[in-house]
Amino acid sequence: MNDSNENVSVENEQVTRLPEDIIIVLPVRNTVLFPGMVMPIAVRRPRSVAAAQEAVKSGRQVCLLMQRDAEEENPGPDELYRVGTVANILRMVTTADGVQHLICQGERRIRILDFIEGQPFLLARHQALPESREMNKEIEARMLNLRDRAMQALDMLPQVPEEFRNGLAQISSPTLLADSIAFYLDLKPEEKQEILETTDLVARMERVQSLLDYRVEVLELQQKISERTRESLNLRQREALLREQLKSIQRELGEDDEQAEELKQLEQAIAEAGMPEEAEETARRELKRLQRMGEMSAEYSMTRTYLEWLSELPWSKTTDDNIDIERARKVLDEDHYGLEKIKKRILEYLAVRKLNPEGKSPILCFVGPPGVGKTSLGQSIARAVGRRFARVSLGGVHDEAEIRGHRRTYVGAMPGNIIQNIRKAGTRNPVMMLDEMDKLGQGFHGDPNAALLEVLDPEQNATFRDAYLGMPFDLSQVMFIGTANVLDNIPGPLRDRMEVIELPGYTREEKIEIAKRYLVRRQREHAGLKPEQFEIGEDIIGMIVNEYTREAGVRNLERQIGAVARNAAVRIASGEVEKVTVTEEDLRRVLGPPRFEDEVALRTALPGVATGLAWTPVGGDILFIEANRSPGSGKLILTGQLGEVMKESAQAALTLIKNRADSLGFSPSVFDGHDIHVHVPAGAIPKDGPSAGVAMYIALASLLTGRTVRNDVAMTGEITLRGLVMPVGGIKEKVLAAHRAGIRTVMLPARNRRDFEEIPENARKELEFVWMERVEDAVDHALATPPRSEMPRHAGTGG
Ligand SMILES: Nc1ncnc2c1ncn2[C@@H]1O[C@H](COP(=O)(O)OP(=O)(O)OP(=O)(O)O)[C@@H](O)[C@H]1O
Ligand SMILES: [Mg+2]
Repeated sequence: MNDSNENVSVENEQVTRLPEDIIIVLPVRNTVLFPGMVMPIAVRRPRSVAAAQEAVKSGRQVCLLMQRDAEEENPGPDELYRVGTVANILRMVTTADGVQHLICQGERRIRILDFIEGQPFLLARHQALPESREMNKEIEARMLNLRDRAMQALDMLPQVPEEFRNGLAQISSPTLLADSIAFYLDLKPEEKQEILETTDLVARMERVQSLLDYRVEVLELQQKISERTRESLNLRQREALLREQLKSIQRELGEDDEQAEELKQLEQAIAEAGMPEEAEETARRELKRLQRMGEMSAEYSMTRTYLEWLSELPWSKTTDDNIDIERARKVLDEDHYGLEKIKKRILEYLAVRKLNPEGKSPILCFVGPPGVGKTSLGQSIARAVGRRFARVSLGGVHDEAEIRGHRRTYVGAMPGNIIQNIRKAGTRNPVMMLDEMDKLGQGFHGDPNAALLEVLDPEQNATFRDAYLGMPFDLSQVMFIGTANVLDNIPGPLRDRMEVIELPGYTREEKIEIAKRYLVRRQREHAGLKPEQFEIGEDIIGMIVNEYTREAGVRNLERQIGAVARNAAVRIASGEVEKVTVTEEDLRRVLGPPRFEDEVALRTALPGVATGLAWTPVGGDILFIEANRSPGSGKLILTGQLGEVMKESAQAALTLIKNRADSLGFSPSVFDGHDIHVHVPAGAIPKDGPSAGVAMYIALASLLTGRTVRNDVAMTGEITLRGLVMPVGGIKEKVLAAHRAGIRTVMLPARNRRDFEEIPENARKELEFVWMERVEDAVDHALATPPRSEMPRHAGTGG
């Protein structure tokens, strides 16, 4: 191209002097420009480039002449049509690929008279072809006709821009209208050339009209054909066709086989899931969507997971209840020692269920300290009636979605733990234990309690809606059982739905019995030992209970027995011995020195320490109240992170003791120049409430009289400033805690006598009870009587 550039510049001088009737010819292939139209033309051939450059340079027009044979590289005069269009070059653009483009605007038709050769490009002498400006009715009618037809054609050609329609509507010149239509109609180049050459206006319009009619007809026919094809393929065939196409695309992409297999399995699983109508419809719809998705898309795996959930839920799977009361009793006895009242209540419950399976039986809720067998009772019930067991842990749940699920739009969405456990159970009528209902939190995202209420409500739970499933699931056949450590922490409305059964905890004897019958065997088996290889006597179990555990339940006991059994297994496996009969030494070696041995005796060896009883969420415990006297300004110092009520009760105890100095036999002057310090150690026990009043009073009395507190006595009770002992709560748990700690005498407010019945029988039998009306009753029983000579110097001067 550079070569030709240079060539042109050499010849320049000559060409600029061209006379007016000589025009630069630009041969074009397969295109006809009409007057008034604008068209880009790419120029590549050296002669054309030269012609274009000359025209641009000298500001001259060019004549576009179509070649008769588009293949001809270098057409001479004979290979060009004789009629062409004179055009202005509006712009010359060089595109990135180096090709020059001319934007040409047609101006008028001309006829070439003769060509002038011997120049770098073709020149020609020409003659104008005049356009008719005639206007008459016929022409007007033809115009209307042409325009209508053109619009009709445009309607069937969706890709034509709107501006073009508007432009067409505004053309008022018949020549321009005919030329425009001819220009834009996709005619053969020869047809266009023919129209260009038709100088008679009416003839030209007629020719355009007939070509346009033909075009419209073709378009109409085309449309009809495609409509008919669309009709003739009914929907099903169409879908089959599309699916066939889809498959071949997938085959191309290599996505076919595995996915198809997977989808087939899903389809089968859905068909076999026994879903209710609504669920099945949704599942099928989603499956169809899935079939159309790419395996790699995030939505694919989300939808597949969803469908797996739907197909794996036991929509209609149930186990048949087998409620044979005798058998149920056997099962309960097999799994649990004692608990007579509870087992009786469970059997009643089962009997009612058997007689009236459709009736609404109450929801049981087991309440009691850890390790007393709440969860394992639930398992026993499931076993007794032949149902699956599922356990939903509610501890720490503080979001409604954990119970009811997240909507599927949420990233990582899952069904809530009710539905999750239904799937795990594999039937829709399991025994479902709602564990730790008292640990349910209150969240920001909806109230989990409300969701749970719905789960337990027999009016609503047949259509329980999990947000993830997005459709109801029938929970009405589920046998719900709740558990909690503390009843008070279960919200009222939930508590009202359930029948509470309390498991207060075991006495020492019961624990030994449970260990002998259940825990030892279980732990021995866990350790892989045969019965003849491992023996542990009742006395040794008793030592574990007393010295290594202090709990209401038997969980730690079981753990310690487990440790002993594992140790025995190691010794047997290593060939050291063939059989282990656990001795006290073994115990010390494996479990370490006793943990709780003489705590009470040790602590109360000095005056100023009293053993109190506390109620705790885990079933009651003993605690020590320590009082001391040190030089100071007469203040009462309280430590041990006591709550407000407990502080007040220390204050009351001090006031009371000051008033009783005389009767207790110490001088009021002991307070002069001294502070009184009351400390309550025990880190794990919540320290508030008034019930330590008596113990505080006794600790102070002990300190000030110098008489120690008896080490086998524990007490609880609120005091008034007048010295009355007021009733307190948690008697049963407190008494059991005292019993566990080896206390012999328990001092309780007289007005708590009404709670005596609640105390398990063997604790009642083994303990001595002192019922206190006034603090004086406590002093006599709690303080040891020291020999006169041991009376401390500072005390007793007033007596
Ligand atoms: N009366 C009993 N007879 C036999 N085994 C018992 C008895 N009570 C409890 N156990 C055993 O003690 C262990 C602890 O019981 P479980 O797990 O049911 O306690 P829990 O009351 O549910 O405690 P938590 O409140 O901590 O959940 C279990 O292995 C259980 O079998
Ligand atoms: Mg439990």
